[in-house]
Amino acid sequence: MPNSKIAGLGFYVPERVVTNHDLMEYMDTNDEWIQERTGIKERRFGVKHEETTTTMGIEAAKIAIERAGITNKDVDFIIFATLSPDYYFPGCGVLLQREMGMQGIGALDIRNQCSGFIYGLSIADQFVKSGMYKNVLLVGAEFHSPGLDYSTRGRNVTVIFGDGAGAAIIQPSEGEGILTTHLHADGTYAEQLAYINPGSHGGKWLGKKGFGYENEDKFGGMFITQHMMDNALTFPNMNGPAVFKFAVTKFPEVVKEALDATGHTTEDIDMFIPHQANLRISQFVQKRLGLPDEKVWNNIQKYGNTTAASIPIALCEAMEAGKIKKGDLVCLAAFGSGFTWGSALIRWQ
Ligand code: UT7
Repeated sequence: MPNSKIAGLGFYVPERVVTNHDLMEYMDTNDEWIQERTGIKERRFGVKHEETTTTMGIEAAKIAIERAGITNKDVDFIIFATLSPDYYFPGCGVLLQREMGMQGIGALDIRNQCSGFIYGLSIADQFVKSGMYKNVLLVGAEFHSPGLDYSTRGRNVTVIFGDGAGAAIIQPSEGEGILTTHLHADGTYAEQLAYINPGSHGGKWLGKKGFGYENEDKFGGMFITQHMMDNALTFPNMNGPAVFKFAVTKFPEVVKEALDATGHTTEDIDMFIPHQANLRISQFVQKRLGLPDEKVWNNIQKYGNTTAASIPIALCEAMEAGKIKKGDLVCLAAFGSGFTWGSALIRWQ
């Protein structure tokens, strides 16, 4: 069985820079609070009506394809990870496929939020190792900005997120490449970080009372109700402290799992790329793992949390900066909504 490797990487972020001061025009927040609690100084927002999650994914994919030394026609499978798709359905995978002229090949959309890229990498790795595909295009992209609550009510969520995309081509490897991937989830905490409405749940998991479903018992009319619109129930919600607490435990745990599975220790890691959830989480995890600053890549300061895009953007930036070279042991790890978490260990080829 061949190994698989990341043969090309690309990323795209929109041009428009939105600073913490810009957000203060809309909500009661301030630069000190945001920087102190999250490390974020600015993020990028896409151009509404022009850019979409898919178009950002395409820009990143074009670069990854070129760097892998292949053309669009060589791609034989697409995996698209996002929580902010262009349409509720169909997914961004088929839109990207259509726009890039790759009609006919399979396109899989995955919904694993912050862990989406690692889940996608694991799927691509299995497909390539089994010999089923030779050039898997994996995209993680988010257009968060149109779906956020810009009033003070939504400030704990809104100040964190940014738009962007990252992409990778996964190919068979002559050498080592992707050594191991580890995927986890615990749905007990599904609603702790969630975009609940619109949806088909009809209040089932939340207790119907107070959610405006009492008079919505005819066919239809439950997916998006007037009550949801009137009460701003169509925005993401997050129990920040609960997410933080789990994240700082699960990140080191899942990194250790990957190291143990391959007989490595933390000293063997040459570059650690954590999902960019919050700089404080990354710093906590770095300390717990005992890694020096030069072995950890953080860019949340510039881009905010770009969810499924954050790992490929960071990985690509680190590579472009010459911080990852052939033979390096690269560790990826993510934690987020679901809760889902995962890790990957790669011997860079
Ligand atoms: O990608 C994975 C997904 N997300 C994460 O990993 C996020 C994990 N959690 C976090 O990063 C942090 O919990 C946050 C950054 C979201 C929040 O930081 P925190 O230190 O946990 O703050 P908190 O939610 O406990 O709120 C503390 C105070 C509250 O005020 P009171 O009740 O103490 O008066 C909030 O209302 O900070 C207030 N607050 C804000 N103030 C200014 C919340 N958001 C803001 C804001 N600006 N943007």
